[in-house]
Amino acid sequence: MLKKLALVIAFSGLMAGMAHAGMAARTGVVGSMHDMNSAGSGAFSNDPYNRVCAYCHTPHNAQAPGIVPAPLWNHGPQTGAVDPYAWASPANASIVIADPLAGPSRLCMSCHDGVSAVDSHGSIVGGATMSGSKKIGDLTLMHPIGFSYDDARTARGDNALAAVTDRFIDEVTSSTLFDTFDHTNGNLGATWVTKTIGSGLYGNMVTCASCHDVHNSTNAVPNVAGSYNYFLHAKEEGSAICLSCHKK
Ligand code: HEC
Ligand code: HEC
Ligand code: HEC
Ligand code: HEC
Repeated sequence: MLKKLALVIAFSGLMAGMAHAGMAARTGVVGSMHDMNSAGSGAFSNDPYNRVCAYCHTPHNAQAPGIVPAPLWNHGPQTGAVDPYAWASPANASIVIADPLAGPSRLCMSCHDGVSAVDSHGSIVGGATMSGSKKIGDLTLMHPIGFSYDDARTARGDNALAAVTDRFIDEVTSSTLFDTFDHTNGNLGATWVTKTIGSGLYGNMVTCASCHDVHNSTNAVPNVAGSYNYFLHAKEEGSAICLSCHKK
């Protein structure tokens, strides 16, 4: 019996690997890690109709938990208080983090905090929580969020950070200097143009969505297909995602 259980676990692990290995960027939310019907090898799947959007949105009777913005939200909010990131650079000391979860970050954390039930939606009460590397439990140990990008540019100067009208950069090569990165086209495909830094900000705030696209539709395609996804607005290769904002 124990052996059989171990086999089942091993198999579902394999299935999870298979399901997500082919998770291509910019192919939409269906089948992505944000499709709870397949995420975590089905650990979060409890919707009777295998709906995809319903885990996060509803057309009627949305929750109004006083969180802004909450686009027709169908999922309990992250409610507990969280400690913000503490700036390491003295030059950043004047940048205020009034609410670390400002903007959609609170929505992300309503699943990623490792405490809230990922599978609770509408009237369906779930109990499965996030664990492992996908749990973002401690905001003091991650890239700062919940502050104004303009405040940061004021503190650091225009030469330290890209303009909000600049686009996320496409490729980084060892021969390019930061000030010659192509922030204007960001042409990732025949017709694809990357987002501007500003379009990832909420009321000018840096949030989880400043780096991630929750719907897997406006994110970057890795150089090697299927090598990673992470729903990122720019590639990991060459740290294009970091160099899109930071002129380092
Ligand atoms: C895992 C949670 C999640 C799922 C699943 C999800 N969304 Fe969203 N959606 C969000 C969040 C968070 C936002 C607000 C932040 C953002 O847009 O980055 C949002 C915003 C939106 C918006 C507002 C406009 C926009 O694009 O920003 C629309 C429309 C939308 N979602 C439609 C859908 C539809 C349709 C589906 C199903 C096919 C879906 N979403 C699935 C989390 C989700
Ligand atoms: C309804 C719950 C839910 C919400 C809301 C949600 N996520 Fe997720 N997210 C998940 C699950 C489930 C996974 C996959 C976990 C697994 O398979 O182990 C995931 C995975 C991810 C990953 C990892 C992708 C990869 O390739 O490794 C990222 C990045 C992510 N989410 C970011 C976000 C951001 C940013 C938001 C808010 C804009 C958000 N999530 C909102 C449930 C959610
Ligand atoms: C400054 C950009 C940035 C911000 C802001 C950001 N992330 Fe990420 N995130 C990344 C990058 C880049 C990765 C890819 C993995 C890596 O490089 O460590 C990632 C990876 C992840 C993963 C997958 C981790 C793993 O090891 O599988 C999750 C889940 C995630 N982010 C959720 C979030 C949530 C939730 C927020 C907001 C609370 C957030 N991220 C804010 C850049 C960011
Ligand atoms: C959407 C824009 C944006 C992206 C993308 C981004 N950052 Fe940042 N980051 C900022 C801003 C704004 C600040 C605050 C001002 C500053 O330090 O330049 C900041 C702060 C930081 C800090 C903290 C400095 C301190 O004083 O503690 C570090 C370290 C950092 N970023 C590294 C990274 C890395 C590494 C990446 C890529 C994984 C990244 N950033 C991606 C905008 C961004």
